[in-house]
Amino acid sequence: MNWEHSRFSDDEIYLNHNNYKKPKQTHKKILNIIDSLNPEAGQTILDCGCAAGELIYFLVSNFKEINISGFDISPKMISKAKEKIPGVEFFVQDLSQKFSDWCIKPKKDIVILSGVIQIFDDFEYVINNLILCANNRGNIIISLPYNKDPIDVIMRYRRFNDKKWESGWNITCKESIENFLKTKQEINNFFWDDVTSPDNLSKKKNDPMRKWTTNINGKNTTVVGSSQIINQTILVIKLN
Ligand SMILES: C[S@@+](CC[C@H](N)C(=O)[O-])C[C@H]1O[C@@H](n2cnc3c(N)ncnc32)[C@H](O)[C@@H]1O
Repeated sequence: MNWEHSRFSDDEIYLNHNNYKKPKQTHKKILNIIDSLNPEAGQTILDCGCAAGELIYFLVSNFKEINISGFDISPKMISKAKEKIPGVEFFVQDLSQKFSDWCIKPKKDIVILSGVIQIFDDFEYVINNLILCANNRGNIIISLPYNKDPIDVIMRYRRFNDKKWESGWNITCKESIENFLKTKQEINNFFWDDVTSPDNLSKKKNDPMRKWTTNINGKNTTVVGSSQIINQTILVIKLN
């Protein structure tokens, strides 16, 4: 069994998506958080794991004076992003690579990681790389699923006719992340902003590992086909 991280579904999802004009709830929340930080003209934003640039498209149309860039591990998604949003700097980069080995070493005022951290088994390593991408006094915004119980979950799944195991829905509790953040001298403070009204999503018959919403105990609840409930939150970290 190979427990190394591997994730191969996203190309299929995002290359066939065209939701540029229909932002997700988490993207709307990220926009509101950025707005509340009162970004000044000329400040910079980096979207890590930007896929084909849907969040960047939304941000660019709302923050005209801010310089926005993004990267993803997938060259195909970066090509699509460049085509859809000309004028924005996009580059291919693996977030799990040691920052000192990156070809482009970004230093930005606001660093975003949306819907990506759950792919990795080691959230500490990823947050350390995000800190290195941020300027002093910068902000890091991470949207992620979290466990309401104090338990961290590392999972792999595979489709019934496939031999390959995939990651994508590791779920960490807030307590573990907080314990780590409290050890970091670079961090001034942080807060959580939970996503309380998730998008209404229907189940995709051809891919039960895409999120959908269903009624559980009278509450609109997001689930995936690995029998997991997905509670989403946004973590905002302010650096010194
Ligand atoms: C679920 S999608 C989220 C896309 C987008 N950030 C959003 O909010 O809609 C996960 C993205 O992370 C990218 N990704 C996966 N592993 C990565 C890595 N090691 N380095 C950079 N990006 C990665 C995938 O290619 C994919 O675009």
